[in-house]
Amino acid sequence: MKKMRRSGLSWTGAAIFFLTVAAIVTAAVLIYSALPEDMATGAKAGVMLAVIAVLALICTGADLIRRKITVERPVRTILAATDAIASGDFSVRLEPAHPYFRRDEYDEIMENLNKMTAELAHTEMLHNDFVSNVSHELKTPVSVIRNYAQALGRECDGELREKYAAALISAADRLTALVQGVLRLNKLENQKLTPARRTFRLDEMLAEAALAFEDAIDAKGLTLKCDLEEAEITSVPDYLELVWNNLLSNAVKFTEQGGVTLSLKMRDGNAVVRVADTGQGISPEVGRHIFEKFYQGDTSHAGEGNGLGLALVKKVIDLLGGEIAVESEAGKGSTFTVTLRGVT
Ligand SMILES: Nc1ncnc2c1ncn2[C@@H]1O[C@H](COP(=O)(O)OP(=O)(O)O)[C@@H](O)[C@H]1O
Ligand SMILES: [Mg+2]
Repeated sequence: MKKMRRSGLSWTGAAIFFLTVAAIVTAAVLIYSALPEDMATGAKAGVMLAVIAVLALICTGADLIRRKITVERPVRTILAATDAIASGDFSVRLEPAHPYFRRDEYDEIMENLNKMTAELAHTEMLHNDFVSNVSHELKTPVSVIRNYAQALGRECDGELREKYAAALISAADRLTALVQGVLRLNKLENQKLTPARRTFRLDEMLAEAALAFEDAIDAKGLTLKCDLEEAEITSVPDYLELVWNNLLSNAVKFTEQGGVTLSLKMRDGNAVVRVADTGQGISPEVGRHIFEKFYQGDTSHAGEGNGLGLALVKKVIDLLGGEIAVESEAGKGSTFTVTLRGVT
């Protein structure tokens, strides 16, 4: 939307110029008519020239002062601010010279600069957080790899060798998952267009996703229940697979008793998918952060993830134009509900 702008500067300038010329001409005419009639024409011309020169000088001086206040002062302030921003100081904030309803263009430039520096400071903070999170996440598996590789070099016992090799592989897998997560998130964040949609059976996709977790569910002695309505939808399959895999892997990871229920219902052209578990649940404090990058609410499982899962899920659902909601009670379990809008 285009803003209504008070173009005060040009109108004031034009008015002052007009009044100055009018004042000089009027004063000249008055002075001319006050001169003695018998004065020589040459002398009259000399007096008039001197009078007009003095008047013009006074007006030029007044205009210089006006320009200093209305143009040079704000331009200097803005220049100092842009110098500071160019050298990386994003804490600069400018105070507009006029109250809100009398703002001129300079005030607006200052306001826009304030917005830009605030945005830059925020981006810089996100960037720094991201880099420090990635390096922190890299440290643990790298030191695991280093220690076990050292031990493996010394070890001849076949059983221990296998154990160390398994630790190496799992640490390498964590690194791969981290790099993959960061790359995916980066790609999704920079994506302007969603990829081409396809029509497919969502119930079949969900059944396959659940099947992939069967071993993990059996190994923990949990149950898996699926209640899937038949549904053909149009969406981006690769994106959705990522969503179901993350939600199911969390449900299995954070559940020690009971089981996981996966359901799909169609309502007015929307697909509603629920992943419910009877696990440890999420406290309201943890719940506020679970969609943030690298956030892990439960440090006892920190080794089995990197906190990128739900950030990716949220990003994908935003891109597809859907919603995700969480209902949970600490100790009782959690239910994640994904609504995909207008998919049929
Ligand atoms: N089903 C769930 N039950 C309990 N807590 C959960 C569940 N899903 C997510 N969480 C919480 O949300 C946090 C972020 O999840 P996620 O982004 O997938 O990271 P990760 O799985 O790597 O820890 C988890 O660390 C956990 O605290
Ligand atoms: Mg996860």
